[in-house]
Amino acid sequence: MVEPAKPALSWKPLVVLPMPLVYRPAQADELAATDALVVSSINDLTIRHGFGAMAATSPPNFQLFCLRDDPDGLWVAEEGGGIVGCAWSWTCGDLWFLAQLFVDPAQQGRGIGNSLLERTLEHARKSGAAHKALITFTFNRVSQGLYMRHGFFPRTPIYFFDARREAVRMLPEAVLRAVPIEPDAATMETLATVDRCAIGVSRDKHHRYLLGDLATRGFLFYAGSDPAGYGYIGANGHIGPLAVLWPDNVQDAFAAALRLAAAGTSERISAFLPGACDGALSLAVNQGMRITFPMLLMASPGYGDWTRYLPRNPGFM
Ligand SMILES: CC(C)(COP(=O)(O)OP(=O)(O)OC[C@H]1O[C@@H](n2cnc3c(N)ncnc32)[C@H](O)[C@@H]1OP(=O)(O)O)[C@@H](O)C(=O)NCCC(=O)NCCS
Repeated sequence: MVEPAKPALSWKPLVVLPMPLVYRPAQADELAATDALVVSSINDLTIRHGFGAMAATSPPNFQLFCLRDDPDGLWVAEEGGGIVGCAWSWTCGDLWFLAQLFVDPAQQGRGIGNSLLERTLEHARKSGAAHKALITFTFNRVSQGLYMRHGFFPRTPIYFFDARREAVRMLPEAVLRAVPIEPDAATMETLATVDRCAIGVSRDKHHRYLLGDLATRGFLFYAGSDPAGYGYIGANGHIGPLAVLWPDNVQDAFAAALRLAAAGTSERISAFLPGACDGALSLAVNQGMRITFPMLLMASPGYGDWTRYLPRNPGFM
């Protein structure tokens, strides 16, 4: 008996190839997408730890400024056509700062954060940085362990303090005089001197960035006719960065900044205060400001004493 011919296969077996995970430099038109990833990663972390959602998207202006200044500092991890992680670092003089390292919550624990960190650390090596620093969440065990693996160690807690503006009104008598910053050569040199004292490097380009931001006002603080430091106050009532020449001035400079913020129209006043700035911390609690969440400054060994500098935020430092 002749067997009937087998029908020809009308389909081909489907082979699903895994999409490669690619690490590559970030592009300017991806910064809004990386900001959205950062917001979802922060909110996932803070909700898990009982702090609620605390991040919202914002225009990635400083990221763009840094990308144009030095494209080696911004990286993305991409898989299946989507961004699953990002890292961003900037340098000033011999300081390298990790402004962001975030991985999509669904992709964490696969080694993506470590690989992105290695790429940004290459940026530090290329720039010849002597010091490295970052600010992370005190309650994130993963980030702290990962950073320790790469030579960053806890230096000081940083507390995010916040209050309603009306709560901040019994301020002590002004000791320092506040004068709006004019970006002339002499003033820029004064700012550089204060920064070298407070954090070891001049941040000339970052002052120019802040002075060009219409939502932020910068002030020099004087004791008599001598400069003592500077501070920036946002239209949203946020204080920082703020820096002083001497640790003894930090409380008076913070008082001057609080006075300026209290005279504004924002509903809230806020600041990041390092645990080593005793005077500023005392003033904040005495003014009824509340600790909203704790962060941690980690750095390469020996960098900074953090007694004369209030960071603007974890990305700007
Ligand atoms: C922090 C973050 C970027 C890490 O990225 P990731 O891709 O999840 O991390 P990786 O898988 O590359 O590395 C995890 C490493 O953390 C370390 N780690 C994890 N848990 C730890 C713990 N409890 N104690 C000590 N180290 C720990 C280990 O070194 C681990 O590597 P291993 O698993 O090979 O031992 C990511 O988890 C994230 O986005 N978290 C939320 C946002 C955040 O806090 N970002 C940092 C802001 S500065």
